[in-house]
Amino acid sequence: MLLEVKDIHVHYGKIEALKGISVEVNEGEIVTLIGANGAGKTTTLKTISGLRGLTSGSIVFDGKDISRMPGHKRVVAGLGQAPEGRGVFPGMTVHDNLLMGAYTRSGSFSAELAEAYELFPRLAERRNQAAGTMSGGEQQMLAIGRALMAKPKVLLLDEPSMGLAPLMVQQIFSIIEEINRRGTTVLLVEQNAQQALKLAHRAYVLETGKVVKSAPAADLLNDPDVQAAYLGGGLGHDAPEEPAVSQERAVPEERSGAPEA
Ligand SMILES: Nc1ncnc2c1ncn2[C@@H]1O[C@H](COP(=O)(O)OP(=O)(O)OP(=O)(O)O)[C@@H](O)[C@H]1O
Ligand SMILES: [Mg+2]
Repeated sequence: MLLEVKDIHVHYGKIEALKGISVEVNEGEIVTLIGANGAGKTTTLKTISGLRGLTSGSIVFDGKDISRMPGHKRVVAGLGQAPEGRGVFPGMTVHDNLLMGAYTRSGSFSAELAEAYELFPRLAERRNQAAGTMSGGEQQMLAIGRALMAKPKVLLLDEPSMGLAPLMVQQIFSIIEEINRRGTTVLLVEQNAQQALKLAHRAYVLETGKVVKSAPAADLLNDPDVQAAYLGGGLGHDAPEEPAVSQERAVPEERSGAPEA
């Protein structure tokens, strides 16, 4: 197992945000954490990356207990993060933002730079543009590209789809799939449960600081409780016997004579 979060408890002052969360991520997997606002998803990622300390429990990464390791050393060890809200350096160019992602590295990183530009051609077109003037989706691409520059073993992603239009969400998700196909393990936090469950191998459902379900992602897509709570089910329909109706069905009339997409 590449990453093991064991029964972590995390507090903000007296408030216990995580009440014993355990999550396992195997090498090569995409694992997703889903759950409502305030469930503890971001706190879990921040604790893994070392931005929050834990009260009890432990985090084992690549065979080592990293529970007390400072965050910057975790990056060197192979934990890469694209944080919630993206956090690009707005006054710096796209190119310099990418270079910042490699600050923990020694030696050449031209291969990673070339790969980031290959995965995100939009970034290559805009390499001299100030990051703060990029669109939301472009900044998300930059945040992921920057995290990849550290050549992480595990990429931690916090709501990469937040605030993006459906087409851009599709693009970001297919790039995440490609990054995983090329060998990077992914731990993905999402509110967009439908998309995340389609992409991931396994998933955990968080509720108020606890894991209430964990299963193969495909099973959760068909789980009536998960459908009702997170997949837009239970809205005046009887409990569905079949998987949730796909979005294409929402288009009412056929567009006759339309060319193929
Ligand atoms: N800096 C903080 N100070 C105090 N409480 C915090 C802080 N950050 C988070 N919390 C609390 O911890 C709990 C978990 O928050 P967290 O951000 O991890 O949730 P989340 O699942 O990521 O939610 P969202 O989907 O809205 O991003 C919430 O009750 C939140 O109010
Ligand atoms: Mg969050």
